[in-house]
Amino acid sequence: MRGIKIIGTGMYVPEIVASNDWLSTILDTNDEWIYTRTGIRERRISADKPNYYMAEQAALAAVKDSGIDPAEIDLVLAATCSPDFFYPALSCLVQHTVGAENAAAFDINSACTGFINALDTASRFLQDSDYRNILIVASERLAPHCDYTDRSASILFGDGAGAAVVTKSDKPMWSYLSAKGDYFNALYCKVDHSRSNCPLLEPDTLPEGIIDTESKTHTLQMNGKAVYKFAVDAMQTAVNKVLEKSGLTKEDIDLYIPHQANARIIESAVKGLGLPEEKVYVNLENRGNTSSACIPTCLAELGESGRLKEGMKICLVGFGAGLTSGAIVFEQ
Ligand code: COA
Repeated sequence: MRGIKIIGTGMYVPEIVASNDWLSTILDTNDEWIYTRTGIRERRISADKPNYYMAEQAALAAVKDSGIDPAEIDLVLAATCSPDFFYPALSCLVQHTVGAENAAAFDINSACTGFINALDTASRFLQDSDYRNILIVASERLAPHCDYTDRSASILFGDGAGAAVVTKSDKPMWSYLSAKGDYFNALYCKVDHSRSNCPLLEPDTLPEGIIDTESKTHTLQMNGKAVYKFAVDAMQTAVNKVLEKSGLTKEDIDLYIPHQANARIIESAVKGLGLPEEKVYVNLENRGNTSSACIPTCLAELGESGRLKEGMKICLVGFGAGLTSGAIVFEQ
């Protein structure tokens, strides 16, 4: 049985609150527009703390919460699409800080679906007796990626980190993962190679649909409508597919934790699936979309408030750049 048990959770939230009212001082927007279209009132911005700092804080909290000795961690997985370094991997910095001296470490980048892909990967490693405890951290600092003259995208995102320590369990788990690379240009952030001083380099040959001008390189570019439509469909497909694999019904699930991109996307998917709203956890009003960190941050909040109970059947569902999507059902 490919089961996992979450034995510790942690999170880090930057101090600086960027409210809708603050955004309306730098953009042609207002609280009413943002709140009614997205459900977001404010998000946190990491003004001076790099991504690795946030990841380390969340990871340290999760390891402390788990009560295990960091030396007993066999693998550190970091999900991020906004690292401070191309290399080394974010997971290596975290491995060092938490003192997971016996752990291997690597990163996973599937943007906002990162935690789902990392948890699925962890469950497969745990099938091997060499791996007993795995630390997963998802951390994103998207403020440096956002173009704060683009009012349709920059209002959505926030910074933060969430982490979980997982171990093997004899309870069941199922997953469904998907990628639609034909939508690669619906949401992207292109690396800036123009600063290279290699005399042989010429401007990059770009795939169709990727725009590369000085103002568009190194900033998040998004086709909001395309992502919205994809997200509503993909979340429903992922939940239906994973439930089909599990043989469970929608009613059997105690808690649904969706990716926190937009309250309207969540509401449409929840309505389409016919899920009871009280079983769906939403925290985006004060956080915004923190990409891969959304789901583990929800798990950490639920853990802290004592709502993450043994025996609970939990469904995680997400989507993100790629475009990727996926869902996991497990019994805690
Ligand atoms: N404030 C005020 N007006 C805004 C605005 C803002 N922040 N952003 C866009 N507008 C305007 C547009 O300019 C447009 O004006 P026009 O009709 O005069 O041209 C109008 O509002 C409608 O824009 P539109 O893009 O149709 O809005 P929308 O209802 O699709 O909402 C998003 C835009 C981005 C909120 C929505 O498409 C969305 O959430 N998409 C999914 C994005 C996402 O989740 N990305 C992350 C995936 S992990």
